[in-house]
Order: sequence, then structure tokens, then C-alpha cells
Amino acid sequence: MKTVLLAGGKGTRLWPLSRELMPKQFVRFLDDESLFQKTVERALLFSKPSEIFVVTNKDYRFRVMDDLREIRIELPADNILLEPVGKNTLPAIVWAVLKIEEKFGPSKVAVLPSDHLIETGEAYERAFENAERLADKFLVTFGIKPNRPHTGYGYIKPGERIEEGGRLLGYRVDEFKEKPDLETAKRYVESGYYWNSGMFAFSTSLFLEEVEKHAPEVLEAFESSSSIEEAYEKAPEISIDYGVMEKTEKAAVVPLNVKWSDLGSFDAIYEVLEKDDAGNAVQIRGKKGYHIGVNSKNNLIMTERLTATVGVSDLVIIDTGDALLVAHRGETQKVKEIYRALREMN
Ligand code: GDD
Ligand code: MG
Repeated sequence: MKTVLLAGGKGTRLWPLSRELMPKQFVRFLDDESLFQKTVERALLFSKPSEIFVVTNKDYRFRVMDDLREIRIELPADNILLEPVGKNTLPAIVWAVLKIEEKFGPSKVAVLPSDHLIETGEAYERAFENAERLADKFLVTFGIKPNRPHTGYGYIKPGERIEEGGRLLGYRVDEFKEKPDLETAKRYVESGYYWNSGMFAFSTSLFLEEVEKHAPEVLEAFESSSSIEEAYEKAPEISIDYGVMEKTEKAAVVPLNVKWSDLGSFDAIYEVLEKDDAGNAVQIRGKKGYHIGVNSKNNLIMTERLTATVGVSDLVIIDTGDALLVAHRGETQKVKEIYRALREMN
């Protein structure tokens, strides 16, 4: 299988860890590997280096190169697709799929976002095997069991079972709804919808047919242009979720019963980090970092310097040396508003 790795997003809800030139996928959250590096390693489960394609912004070129070098993976230079401007995920995936057809002919492709944490192992591998079997006939999504009505995800209603020789491969998708409002999300969670994990699998020919049907402007932008700059100027800004998945009748979902977090906010990061007895998740970054807590509970603390907390609970304290964020746990979705304020300042 070929793999397309999406690494062009911005990650505005994790300021000051992620910055304009250091978006989420390149940040080292949990250990000394970036989410991008972890995603490359997942891609290697099913693809050879020559079959892995990265689509990212031209501004992140050196981050991608450095990250690859660090884990000693070499991709062919023309497998790294540098977008002149981000137009969301559909143009990125279309460009990569056209490139794959040009290089390898019709192929099966997995698309992996590089902004989440996911547990690999037997269940993950079986899900991808099932997806590969479905990929000629369906645009395959991977369904995560929701635990709350999060409004930032896509929701998938599973329909008819799809079996092969008695083995359940997945379900037809009866409905795909991207980022519903809270009321709708609540209803979906109660009625057994899945979250869309953001990963996809399909054959290049089926995918291009469905793009032609539901978002022809995107294909046209590439087909009618003599350069990538021109194609990106013409292409509408649209995600695969709104542009294709909500509209296609050929979607399937393979349930994926593994630990998954999109690390979309500091609240999500607190959830996945290990906590001490007082419920503090502390991550020391750099050589000078240290934390002393006196009567402090349930805080998330990421710091590069000597940091002490006394009598505070449920706080998020992120110190990157040049910037400091103090927020309440439970409100960290609003961190993205800092970005807006910073933009206006500049
Ligand atoms: N190359 C490129 N260009 N990559 C991009 C661009 C772009 O313009 N925009 C986003 N990406 C990358 C991001 O870096 C990320 O790895 C992936 O594409 C998904 O984009 P997000 O912007 O993070 O999407 P989302 O989180 O709002 O929603 C998607 O993921 C959810 C799960 O985390 C959707 O697929 C939802 O349906 C899904 O539930
Ligand atoms: Mg995301």
C-alpha cells in the first residue's frame, strides 16, 4: 500500500508549544519524537520508504527533512510535496494521489494525518488489512468509539455489514457528518455513531472518480494548470471531509478499537500524560526545567525552567522560555484565540 502523510496543518490551539513555524506535528509532546516522526513509523508498517508521500507546506520543508534524518528514514526527494499555500486536506490529497498514479499507476493508498496519537498493534494492523480489502470498492474511514460529544470531529453512522468469507471487514457508511453542533453530536454519540479518526484508505481510481463527482473544481485546478503554484491558486480551500466524505455514497467504516487522541488541546494532552499522586502531569522540557509543587493538584505543567506552584489546582502552565501560558483546565479550546490576538498585534 502507498501512504500519504498530511503534515501541513497549523495547530493553533497549542500555543505556545506550537507556533506558526513549529506546528503541532513537529512538536515533541510526550517523548523525544515528534508526532510527524511517529506517523512516518506507522506508515512504514505497510509501505516502503519509496511508497511514502508527504504533503506539507513549503515553509516546513526543513522541519520535515530534519525529522526524517533524525529517525534515519530517506524518502525520494520527489515524494515530498511542498504546497505553496495550505488549501486544507482535499487539494493536498488530490495532489498526492495524482503523483502516486503518475509514479506507480493505479494503487491503493492510505492517508494518515500527522497530528494525533494512536496506539499500534494487532488491532491497528487488522483494521488496515480490512481497509486494504475494501479499498477498491469504498472510500474507507476508520471509526473510533466516542466518549463525549466533541464538536471538532467527523461523525459516522455505520450501516450494512460488509463481510468476506464470513469475516467482518467493516460497515457501509449511512451518514458522514463533519463537525456537527453540540446538540447533534450528543444525539450521534447516543445513537452509536463513530468518530472519524481522520485516516482514510482507497484506491486511486475510486478516489479520483468520487472527487470528479463531488468536488470537480479541485481536480480541474490541477488538470488545467501548468504549475503547482497555479493549481493552488485555483484550487478551492476545502477538506476531504466536507468535499467528498459527506457526499459520497461509497464510504465504508472499519471500526478501530485502539487508544486514540488527536491532542487537539492542552486538555487532551493532560489526559494522555502520566500523572503523579496529586494528579499533576508534569513534563520537563530542556535541561533547566524542574517543578516543585506544594499543595498543587491536577495541573498540567510543561516547563523549561524552575517552576513552583503553591495551592493551585486544575491549571495549565506552559512555559517555553520565551512565552508563558496560564489557563484553566477545561477552557483550553479557547487558546486558539491567542493566535488571533497575536496576528492583530503584528
Ligand atoms: N498538506 C496539508 N495541507 N496538510 C494539512 C492541511 C493543508 O492545507 N490542512 C490540514 N492538514 C493536515 C493536518 O496537519 C492534520 O495532520 C490533518 O491534515 C487533518 O487536518 P486538521 O485540520 O487537523 O483536521 P481536523 O482535526 O479539523 O479534522 C479531521 O480530523 C478529525 C480527527 O482528528 C477530520 O478528518 C475529522 O473528520 C476528524 O474527526
Ligand atoms: Mg486535527
